[in-house]
Amino acid sequence: MSILIKNGTVVTSTQTLRVDVLISGESIVEIAPEINEKADTVIDAQGMYVLPGGIDPHVHLHLPTPAGCSIDDFKSGSIAALYGGTTTFIDFVTPSKSETLDEALTKRIAEATDSLTDYSFHVSPIKWDKTIEEQIANCIERGFPSFKIYMAYKETVGLNDDELYHVMHDVASHGGMVTAHCELGDEVDKLRNQFFEEGKVTPKYHALSRPESAEVSAVKRAMAFADQTNCPLYIVHVSSGESVKHILQAQRSGQQVFAETCPQYLTLNDSVYNDNFAESGKYIISPPIRSANNNDLLWEGISNNVIQTVGTDHCPFSQAQKEFGINDFRKVPNGAGGIEHRLELLYTFGVKNNKISLNKLVDIFATQAAKIFGLYPQKGEIAVGSDADIVIWNPNAQRTISAKNHHSKADISIYEGFKVNGKAEYVLLRGNMTIKNGQLVNGLNPGKLLLRKNILSNPVNLNTSTYNDPLADNCGRV
Ligand code: URP
Ligand code: ZN
Ligand code: ZN
Repeated sequence: MSILIKNGTVVTSTQTLRVDVLISGESIVEIAPEINEKADTVIDAQGMYVLPGGIDPHVHLHLPTPAGCSIDDFKSGSIAALYGGTTTFIDFVTPSKSETLDEALTKRIAEATDSLTDYSFHVSPIKWDKTIEEQIANCIERGFPSFKIYMAYKETVGLNDDELYHVMHDVASHGGMVTAHCELGDEVDKLRNQFFEEGKVTPKYHALSRPESAEVSAVKRAMAFADQTNCPLYIVHVSSGESVKHILQAQRSGQQVFAETCPQYLTLNDSVYNDNFAESGKYIISPPIRSANNNDLLWEGISNNVIQTVGTDHCPFSQAQKEFGINDFRKVPNGAGGIEHRLELLYTFGVKNNKISLNKLVDIFATQAAKIFGLYPQKGEIAVGSDADIVIWNPNAQRTISAKNHHSKADISIYEGFKVNGKAEYVLLRGNMTIKNGQLVNGLNPGKLLLRKNILSNPVNLNTSTYNDPLADNCGRV
């Protein structure tokens, strides 16, 4: 099967070009100003951007909690991802206390087989003992070189400082990377319990019990341990501008520290907690939504290359599941959906608001995650030889996000009522058309488990990209 994409504007993390793209089988085989070869399918991408398929490095599908599993399974979550132009995601393996990392990994791989996008996993050591080093080495050998640790959630999956240090040491000595949820768990738990005992049980106390200081201190501690153990560190869901400053300092000192933020921290502010439970319960996520000044600080962190990626932390629950904690914010399952909205939110609030260039959009949406997590240049790039994972993005479409029209199974959305620009008209996954004219194609083959070997083998892009938008400038063909 071959597909020819004609007349589009190809945008990569470094270039914006009017070129045609020829796909044969699963790969891109030619990129040139004018390709006139015969193909099984020709897509006219006039007036549209041709982008690499998105890589969401942070999603929690079918995550077990006391209020039930996060409501999207691998099928529904991956369908939502495709509608939003994401063709690969990285989920998590979280063992029970008695399981080895290998056992949990094998089980999780079996759960994901009906994903319609490609996928991989970060593996979570939830304790440390002398056997963990070998387990970590096995996971790396199997193609899973990134390990997620939690400094919060101490009662379930969180590590104490000693365990964290040992995990970083073991991961570093086998050539892996640690990704970290940075909030000081003990401090947060103390505040949570204190508020509850004082009868302060509403969602706003979720936010107040997880202050920025708890994130910033955890970021500093994680970076200090990573420095001591020489462990590459990726800090997930950075929500605070103050954290960004400390990450910048570490990067400037030469430490291998990478940062991710999420659309919710770029577009929402803590006024969301001022409403009744039905409205504000859906924003119970960790870290919580911060005060509005952080939005701009995070955008600056992106444009200054301190933050490399934007993941969604997709972890949706239904309103009924959220109500599990209607009388106690501590019992509300933490998380919200967003896997479908990453590109349209970044395009609307980033590119259209002149916070980032189109090239930067591609960088944070696809390329950097591929480079950091060992998928590049197979994924995250439009180049000859790369997988034909491609989004054809119509910048002129407009819509309003709602739980009534999204593709997640959740009946609530933290972006309800957001007006956004842009739409994925076509999405190709390894040369297979998965979205055609904005609609999911029937009878798709399942996605592929991605084994990752070359973690960090491609340096992250630290050069500020330039804004060059040929659709706006009406520039000529190259
Ligand atoms: O609230 C969130 N983010 N839930 C998912 C788990 C996590 O902390 O990433
Ligand atoms: Zn987290
Ligand atoms: Zn998460």
